[in-house]
Amino acid sequence: MSKQSSGKRSTPDHYTLRAKKEGYPARSVYKLEELNNKFNLFGHDDRILDIGAAPGSWSMYCLRKIGKNGFVAAIDLNDLTIDMSDKRLFFIRGDFFEEKNLSALLDKGLFNTVISDAAPSTTGNRTVDAGRSFTLAAGIIDISGRMLASGGNLAIKIFQGGDEKELVGMLLNHFKTAKILKPKACRKESFETYIVGLDFTPEDSL
Ligand SMILES: C[S@@+](CC[C@H](N)C(=O)[O-])C[C@H]1O[C@@H](n2cnc3c(N)ncnc32)[C@H](O)[C@@H]1O
Repeated sequence: MSKQSSGKRSTPDHYTLRAKKEGYPARSVYKLEELNNKFNLFGHDDRILDIGAAPGSWSMYCLRKIGKNGFVAAIDLNDLTIDMSDKRLFFIRGDFFEEKNLSALLDKGLFNTVISDAAPSTTGNRTVDAGRSFTLAAGIIDISGRMLASGGNLAIKIFQGGDEKELVGMLLNHFKTAKILKPKACRKESFETYIVGLDFTPEDSL
């Protein structure tokens, strides 16, 4: 079987090589970098919740950006492979939607930014996978309402499937601005994109 047909990529691309050089475990970090450069999602002293964080590139990027008083809470079904000794990093291995994990995250206080690169398990059927991604993203938007501080921001990965506008509509109930951006680092053949909500207003102040 050729490398191509076994699903492995034969030559690492520019982003993969750069990630290796800069010490990140995954090239997906450059999607977050572009989103942050464009929308100022977070910066110095911010408190960030990273959902679907493994192997840990996004959390690592956040730790490099938030200064010594910032904080990153990360959650994933799998372990992170980055250095876990940083006191500004709190990690839960588990499902974001499980009540005990949500309360452990809520115990940490409100966040300035919620980022999610979480992807559902895929079937290869684009309609089914987009549906799963929609459900995951809608759940994250819903729960983020309990976790974000006033003025906070959010960025979530979704699979394009036609329902992106509905998610943008959900965001506009609570955020001043909502956008969709497909970062350059997304692979050409990938149908992922990111929805972004900026300047959150909590329910009780609406
Ligand atoms: C593309 S990876 C994230 C890569 C990460 N942003 C990085 O740069 O290292 C997607 C992750 O979402 C996680 N995930 C999917 N559903 C989840 C859930 N309900 N709770 C926690 N993690 C979840 C998967 O375990 C997987 O590790």
